[in-house]
Amino acid sequence: MTVHFIGAGPGAPDLLTLRGRDRIAASPVCLYAGSLVPRALLDHCPPGARIVNTAPLSLDAILAEIVDAQAQGLDVARLHSGDLSIWSAMGEQLRRLRALGIPFTITPGVPAFAAAAAALESELTLPGLTQSVVLTRTPGRASMMPPAETLTAFAATGATLAIHLSIHALDRVIADLTPAYGGDCPVAIVWRASWPDERIVCATLSTVVQAAAGGPERTALILVGPVLAPADFAESSLYAREYDRRFRPQTAASPFAGTRE
Ligand SMILES: C[S@@+](CC[C@H](N)C(=O)[O-])C[C@H]1O[C@@H](n2cnc3c(N)ncnc32)[C@H](O)[C@@H]1O
Repeated sequence: MTVHFIGAGPGAPDLLTLRGRDRIAASPVCLYAGSLVPRALLDHCPPGARIVNTAPLSLDAILAEIVDAQAQGLDVARLHSGDLSIWSAMGEQLRRLRALGIPFTITPGVPAFAAAAAALESELTLPGLTQSVVLTRTPGRASMMPPAETLTAFAATGATLAIHLSIHALDRVIADLTPAYGGDCPVAIVWRASWPDERIVCATLSTVVQAAAGGPERTALILVGPVLAPADFAESSLYAREYDRRFRPQTAASPFAGTRE
């Protein structure tokens, strides 16, 4: 018996990996994390599967479901939205499974920030503008932030920020970021990226509150940084005609000549 953690992707049912689909199809028990996991993914469950929404359950109750499945020798598909490496609560489940000696696998998923960038038709790292993306959030009722991880500290880097779980605190986000980025800095809000009711607002730090007025207070990503509306940016060296590299040695004297597989 194995628990298969599966990143369910941002919303569109076809943004699930083939491995994730196959593991759902092979598991007679499916535990899925609430409203952000698209119901269409549950169609991959085998006939007669036990399908449980874990949103109303405590960690103990979720573990009880897994232990029950183990007693019956049934594999479990455990679905969380987006990818499992960020804000999935997978870490605490893995710790319990390790303590109980229950085997597990992990199948990554498409994270919401990548779906939002796709919706915006944007690359979040552009040569000469920024080469870093900070995946962060503001504090919530259930989650305090470590003291050093403030928006003002991240803003000081000038990186692209992908701010999760914070649409309800948009005023605070803007107040914290404006001193470093300036009021003209581009901001994009993407609600429910890749769902049929996806919505996008593109504005600046000084105009976004008005532009986003009346928008839903849930399931949105706030992206901030010059890469969202670049006036100009350099081309990457990697594809420059004269750039000497393993896959495109420029001369017979190149250290890469003859090394290509
Ligand atoms: C608990 S976190 C889960 C993040 C997820 N594990 C991931 O990889 O994207 C939920 C937050 O992710 C963001 N989010 C999740 N799905 C989204 C979507 N389809 N569109 C925009 N934001 C989304 C929102 O900020 C939401 O409040």
